[in-house]
Amino acid sequence: MTDLSVLGIGASPRKRGNSDMLLRHILKGVRSRGVSCEDVQLRDYQFSACTGCEKCRNTTKCTGLQDGMQLLYPKLAGARGLVLVSPTHNYNMTVWMKAFIDRLYCLYMFTDDRPRRYTSSMAGQGRKMVLGAVGEQPTYEEAIGFTLDAMRLPFEALGYETLAQIPVLGIFDKGRIAAEVEILERAEAAGAQLAKAVSCTPGEFP
Ligand SMILES: Cc1cc2nc3c(=O)[nH]c(=O)nc-3n(C[C@H](O)[C@H](O)[C@H](O)COP(=O)(O)O)c2cc1C
Repeated sequence: MTDLSVLGIGASPRKRGNSDMLLRHILKGVRSRGVSCEDVQLRDYQFSACTGCEKCRNTTKCTGLQDGMQLLYPKLAGARGLVLVSPTHNYNMTVWMKAFIDRLYCLYMFTDDRPRRYTSSMAGQGRKMVLGAVGEQPTYEEAIGFTLDAMRLPFEALGYETLAQIPVLGIFDKGRIAAEVEILERAEAAGAQLAKAVSCTPGEFP
């Protein structure tokens, strides 16, 4: 196992906004269990959307685009635990998170028949994750919409198990989540749960 046990990924364009704070509290919970972690903000990395060039076909490496994603692939591979937080933009995750997820297409191996069947190079490694989403509107449908499902489904397909999902509704002003003590406590508890799960998972890890 590498030193980095949990990787936190934030997908808001807004520095020190609500998603940043939610991520920070989840990672505080991870650290409270003595588990190491790192957080990255996708807005700090320059990378393109997947172009579907297929150069990665069954190599599990993206060689078609030499950009900031090349810094993120090893961080993702080396962490058994993952935290993803995105604000809701138009019922869904932000374009930064969507582009990031699409660039993980290279981690699949596909068969040659149609429709192609696939396996993930990350499957069976005891990978676990916690998800968070923040929206302004008061109802789940409008505030979160597809955000959590849209992050959860691709990562489950890659081989991650979802331990907790934290939807935060009714928050707009920058940093307003700081007043939501109960939510932040839940976030820290989810981080602690993730830390425990990644420490207890037996077996080899790349
Ligand atoms: C382009 C854009 C689209 C948005 N779409 C939604 C939405 O569909 N539903 C919602 O509840 N809030 C929406 N919001 C509001 C944000 O989710 C909300 O302000 C959130 O607190 C921002 O989190 P942040 O501080 O981490 O950036 C949108 C904001 C932007 C900038």
